[in-house]
Amino acid sequence: MALPTQPYKGSRDFYPDDMRIQRWMFDRLRHVVTRYSFQEYDGPLFEPFELYAAKTGEEIVNQQLYWMVDRGDRKIAVRPEMTPTLARMVAGKIHELPRPIRWFAIPNLWRYERPQRGRLREFWQPNCDILGGDPLLADAEIIQVALEIMRAFGGEQWVSVKVNNRRLMDHFFTKSMGLDAQGTLALTKAIDARDKIGEEKFQARLQELGIDESRRARLDQFFSAGFEKVAAENPCEGAEELRQLFELLRQSGVAEGRVVFDPTVMRGLDYYTGTVFEVYDTSPENRRALFGGGRYDNLLALFGNHKLSGVGFGMGDVGLRNFLEVHNLLPQPGSFTDVFVTLPRAQDRPVAERVAGSLREAGLRVMTPLEVGGFGVQLKQATRHGARFAVLFGEAELARGTVLLKDLSSGQQSELSVAEVATAIQKALASTPR
Ligand code: HAM
Repeated sequence: MALPTQPYKGSRDFYPDDMRIQRWMFDRLRHVVTRYSFQEYDGPLFEPFELYAAKTGEEIVNQQLYWMVDRGDRKIAVRPEMTPTLARMVAGKIHELPRPIRWFAIPNLWRYERPQRGRLREFWQPNCDILGGDPLLADAEIIQVALEIMRAFGGEQWVSVKVNNRRLMDHFFTKSMGLDAQGTLALTKAIDARDKIGEEKFQARLQELGIDESRRARLDQFFSAGFEKVAAENPCEGAEELRQLFELLRQSGVAEGRVVFDPTVMRGLDYYTGTVFEVYDTSPENRRALFGGGRYDNLLALFGNHKLSGVGFGMGDVGLRNFLEVHNLLPQPGSFTDVFVTLPRAQDRPVAERVAGSLREAGLRVMTPLEVGGFGVQLKQATRHGARFAVLFGEAELARGTVLLKDLSSGQQSELSVAEVATAIQKALASTPR
């Protein structure tokens, strides 16, 4: 039986048209983050299982992790996120790295998820993180970078950053709801999963946690109160951090209303300790978060007595591409060949190669037919591959030491010496966008 041509469920083949868009997205992103002096890093696809077991969170570890035992009996996992690798790498060179550390990566990650709009099993997740520096200044910068990325794609007006603070939530859960540390974590998870599990299951979870009617009402009231009221009723470090963060973002010129307080943003991962945020598309086609991130104070402590705190975000390529599609922000498909150099007869190959070589040397993208053929057939091939120009030559041109340059978009043709061809093409390309 023939094998299927589809890729493994939840993963994608990147045919050249998709690869071109992926490249374009990541190039643009690199352009933005390197302007904030972020440096690129990467790590291995496999990590020891324990790296995630400690702090990544129960849902990813128990339900979504791809893991295996290697031939040497080591339990290893395919990375479902980048932050633990980042923490491991920073801890490994903690005394050498100048701070604040600003690093970014564009890893492919694997999670055993139910494939759906915006969520797949293999995805790429650009990550930006800052370790060190004043925590609130770093939180503000990381949110600014997130918005700047969306601006670079022309989509800033369609995103909203929803911010919360874990310290504020912990304060509210313990002081107002009377929960212990375990109950606080369980309620955090339940709120994080609320959209996913639905209202009925969410209410059942509250019941399991022993949250009675009056405390449920307190929770609802907290969610609908707005920042000023919440901060006044819950004076604590987390509320103060949020207040300062909003002020810092205002100083950085982040548009009023672009960043909003949303007490339902929890973030499912266990290592967040302070600011948490998610970036959403304001249009209803893309319901899931485009980015998620936050501050982690204790992650590096997994690797020794390290006190370095960090903040960062990850953004999925799947959601980003959906966003760009919905808002019509993807680039037009461009040509990948500037010039097609024909091969009329086998004995003409040395000339054809010389011409093709000189054009490549000049930086042009050149295609050759790899077979001998008549001009009609070869010109058709040139057009199918999207070439803008073709170089043709017959016996008469060879005798005169010239070639014919045909502009396939206008049909215009001119006879030039080989030395003149590159400049003529470059001039024409410069006057029309590629
Ligand atoms: P996360 O919330 O698990 O956080 O993922 C962040 C983003 O990655 C999500 O908002 C979404 O855009 C994308 N994403 C997650 N799962 C999938 C999936 N199955 N398919 C497509 N896209 C997906 C983290 O991973 C943190 N490590 C981020 C971070 C970096 N925090 C601090 N630094």
